[in-house]
Amino acid sequence: MSLKDQLIKDRLPKHVAVIMDGNGRWAKKRGNSRVFGHKNGVKAVREVTEAAAELGIGYLTLYAFSTENWSRPKAEVEALMALLVSTISSETKTLMKNNVRLNTIGCRDALPKAVLAKLESCIEETSSNSGLTLTLALSYSSQWEIIEAVKTISTKVKDGSLLVEDITSENFGAYLSTSGMPDPELMIRTSGEHRISNFLLWQLAYAEFYFTEILWPDFRKEDFYQALMDYQGRERRFGKTGDQVKA
Ligand code: IPE
Ligand code: IPE
Ligand code: MG
Repeated sequence: MSLKDQLIKDRLPKHVAVIMDGNGRWAKKRGNSRVFGHKNGVKAVREVTEAAAELGIGYLTLYAFSTENWSRPKAEVEALMALLVSTISSETKTLMKNNVRLNTIGCRDALPKAVLAKLESCIEETSSNSGLTLTLALSYSSQWEIIEAVKTISTKVKDGSLLVEDITSENFGAYLSTSGMPDPELMIRTSGEHRISNFLLWQLAYAEFYFTEILWPDFRKEDFYQALMDYQGRERRFGKTGDQVKA
């Protein structure tokens, strides 16, 4: 039986988050420039998106560019932005075919106009799709997002439209850019790095983490199924004891 067939369909996560890492090292191993690695990462994005859509997973969030990534060499940043534009152009038809809706989180104002324009037209074109919601985290940092939420909340408290005692861990999420989405139950990071690099700090509070040595450009559907299999073997306790969970 294939890995895909072994997955228990009603126990799939509703939301999977991925830190797509290792493009630079993948290219370096081949004696190529880092940008070559980024270009070869596009296929992995397509594979994972398609796999998630086919399985009926509701939300897939991909960390594509962090706020901290702006400090990379100018040429790499420019190449990444250009790659974003060309990828969105070429992939829109695949998104339509797979009934995928595009969404973004992060500081939109920091993105070059050409990127923003492409993103907005793809978001518009895919807005009626009812399958997977694919969220690209672009110029995203979780600390930035939390600070933005705190500013909004402070303003509301100041003008009297929100009471301090009404701020709870249940409704705080509504002030984050992931508002309306369930929190990810599974977070995958490729390339052997074991850190979350300012990604979804609030939302990953109870996520299961899956780390793999595979470099992002080599990541394929089977690797995604493997991560899901691993997730399905976990016991999620949420503070309770194992016996309580089983009962
Ligand atoms: C992930 O690959 C892609 C981005 C962060 C944009 P990296 O570019 O971080 O690759 P490594 O970690 O240097 O190998
Ligand atoms: C995190 O990867 C950001 C993305 C995958 C877009 P990095 O490779 O930039 O993370 P650090 O800085 O090594 O932790
Ligand atoms: Mg990296």
